[in-house]
Formats: sequence, structure tokens, C-alpha cells
Amino acid sequence: FTYFFFKQKEDNIRCLTMFGHFGFECLPHQLVNRSIQQGFSFNLLCVGETGIGKSTLINTLFNTNLKDKKSSHFYPNVELKIQTYDLQESNVQLKLTVVKTVGYGDQINKEASYQPIVDYIDAQFEAYLQEELKIKRSFVDYHDSRIHVCLYFISPTGHSLKSLDLSTMKSIGSKVNIIPLIAKADTISKNDLQKFKCKIMSELVSNDIQIYQFPTYDETTAQVNTSMKGHLPFAVAGSTDEVKVGKRMVRGRQYPWGVIQVENENHCDFVKLRDMLLCTNMEDLKEQTHTLHYERYRCCKLQRIGFTDVGPDNQPVSFQEIYEVKRQEFYDQCQREEEVLKQKFMQRVKEKEITFKETEKELQDKFEQLKRVQQEETIKLEEEKRQLEEEIINFYKMKSGSETFQTQGCTSIKKD
Ligand code: GTP
Repeated sequence: FTYFFFKQKEDNIRCLTMFGHFGFECLPHQLVNRSIQQGFSFNLLCVGETGIGKSTLINTLFNTNLKDKKSSHFYPNVELKIQTYDLQESNVQLKLTVVKTVGYGDQINKEASYQPIVDYIDAQFEAYLQEELKIKRSFVDYHDSRIHVCLYFISPTGHSLKSLDLSTMKSIGSKVNIIPLIAKADTISKNDLQKFKCKIMSELVSNDIQIYQFPTYDETTAQVNTSMKGHLPFAVAGSTDEVKVGKRMVRGRQYPWGVIQVENENHCDFVKLRDMLLCTNMEDLKEQTHTLHYERYRCCKLQRIGFTDVGPDNQPVSFQEIYEVKRQEFYDQCQREEEVLKQKFMQRVKEKEITFKETEKELQDKFEQLKRVQQEETIKLEEEKRQLEEEIINFYKMKSGSETFQTQGCTSIKKD
């Protein structure tokens, strides 16, 4: 205690001024070392029409060729292609997951095009929530697949956003950090580009579309991010081709009239996007995903199931209490359903019994009738048989009479 100077604060927390070295100033280094050891992961979603330049931009961003086949324009529905890559820069490992839309904007009816994207984002949140709710959690080796950022590729039409862009961004804006990009920005003139950017931003505001808010938590970040914000949506061009400009080889796209250099800030916003995404805000994007978007999902999901933090009397309710109530509710519901099913079953058994009885009666009546008919037939036949026998007897009687008569006749002739 001789090292400390105590100061009593109003809120009863003592502020100590230290006169020696303790070592916890190394805490940030410990964190850095641990993070480097564990490696980083980043999940990126690219939403945009087929052939708009998604793969090229990702390749340009990570200066690599993340081998990928071109997609066809004839998918009946929008699908998502997920690929994970292990990248390394210096001693920093990055597990990069790129999720790309396939067949986006190719269907005649585009009304439900956003649904597979929403479902995918929700499914990743659900997987994380399920892991969180497990008794034995294993977050150490859990691959967190929640989407940290969505690069939304806007067609360089120079007009306005398409209704598909609006409906998709509106549906996913509250679930993911959207960064809008104007794709293939080299195909649009500088003047048109500026007007197009303004138009897009005003359309996003008027349609109440939520996009990623650049953080301004410290002076340097605030400075960088405030200037970044002014360039939204980033007008990007992608290329991994090396082109000769003067004596230098640069990455760019060669045209008959010149070269567009992707890393030249006068030509496009590619460098701004890369700096913002990878250097300045990657960690913030991950944090916003966890604290804002995932939290919102978790809250809605638990509320929908019936969990709450406070009861009707505004008093805190414990998890245990809610669980018990829910369990009882579920049990009662099961009982009720079982009772209904039993009643239904009894009713059906009764109905079947009645039907069987009716059928049995019908069969019995039929049998009785057939029996009667058969008895009548037997009596008739008996009568016919009796008559026939009488006739036979009469016949034999007549026959013997005639034979006697004939014998007597012959005897009298012989006598004569
Ligand atoms: P799918 O995965 O098939 O949907 O395509 P994608 O969106 O990944 O597009 P991809 O990167 O395969 O590019 C499609 C075509 O656009 C290729 O011929 C690219 O060379 C070209 N392209 C990509 N980026 C740009 C760009 O910034 N400007 C111009 N002018 N063309 C580009």
C-alpha cells in the first residue's frame, strides 16, 4: 500500500495513482500475441448480378486468384456459393470465407430474390445461438460463419438503384453491415459518377435503408472514417492484370484510350475500400456483427420463444422461472392436444362401429332373405318331387292294370 495514493471517488470506487511498474501495461501485447496465435477469420458476402465483377474485386482485394468458375445466367433461383480460404500476410493468418450470390437478378420474377440471402444470414446467426445455448459449448474450435460484411454491387447504370437493389438492401440492412459499391466504375464518366453517387445515397436515405456506419470512437479513426463516409458508395474497378504505365507495372485495365489503374485513387475508390475494409474497420465490422446484428436476432428469437427479462409487474424474471412456466405451458398444451386427439379417435371409433353394425345388419338381412328364398325353393322342389312320385306310382298302377287287362283278354280268346 506504500506504493499507492488513495483517492476516494463519489461513487465509492477508489482511483489509485501508481508509483511503480506492475506489468499489466503489457496486457494489450498479450492480446495481440494470443490473437496472432489463434489467427483471424472474416466472412464476406458479395451480393450482385451475375458478371458484375464480384470475383474480380475479391481477387483484387486479396491480390490473389481465388479460383472460381463463371456462373451461368440460367439459374431458376438465386443461390449462394460459399468458399473458404486460408490466407497469410506476414505472420497473420486469416481464414477468409467468401459467400457469393449466383443467379442474382437473372430471374424474370425477382420478388423473392433476397430470400435465400436473408435465410443464409439468419441460418448463421441461428447456428451461433444454438452453440451458445449448448451446455457444453466449444467456441474455441467453433467456426463462426456469421457474415461480417456485405459488399453490395450496384450496376453502373448512372440512373438510380433498381427495385431489386432496394428490396434486397432493405431486407438485409438490419442483419448485416452493408457497404454499397458501384461496380465496374471505369465504365461511367467522372461527372456522371458523382451524380450517381449522390442519387444512390439519397435513395438509400429515402427508402430507410440501413448501411454500415463507420465508427468514430477515437480521433484518428474518426478522421479517416469521416472522409470515407463522404465517398460512399465506393466506385470500384477490379483487375488482377499487370499493365505497364510509364516504367511501372500496375494492376489495371487496359483500354484503347488508356489504362485504368485500380490502385490509383484518382481513377477509382478501390484503395479506399481496401483500407476501410481490411486496415481500419475489419475488427469493428466483426464487433458490430456480434453486438448489433446478432444481438438483434438473438433478442427477437428469444422473445418469439417467450423469454423476457422483466415480468408484467416490471420485476426481473429469472431464466429458471421462465423455463418452468414455458415447460408447464408446453405440458398443458400437449395434454390439451392429446385430449383433442383422444376425443377425435373415440368419435371415429364410434362412427366406424355404427358403420360396421349397419353393414352387419344389411348382411344379416340379405342372408335371411336368401335363406327364405332357398327354403321356399326347397319346399317347391319337394312338392314337385312328391307330385312326380305320385305320377310315377299312378303310371305303374296304370301300367300293371293294363298288363292285367291284356293278360285276361288273351286267356278269353284262347278259350274261345
Ligand atoms: P459471376 O461469379 O459469374 O456471377 O461473375 P462475377 O460477378 O464474379 O464477375 P467476374 O469477376 O467474373 O467478372 C465478369 C466480367 O467482368 C469479366 O470479364 C471481368 O473481366 C469483368 N470485370 C470485372 N471487374 C471489372 C471492372 O471493374 N470493370 C470492367 N470494365 N470490367 C470488369
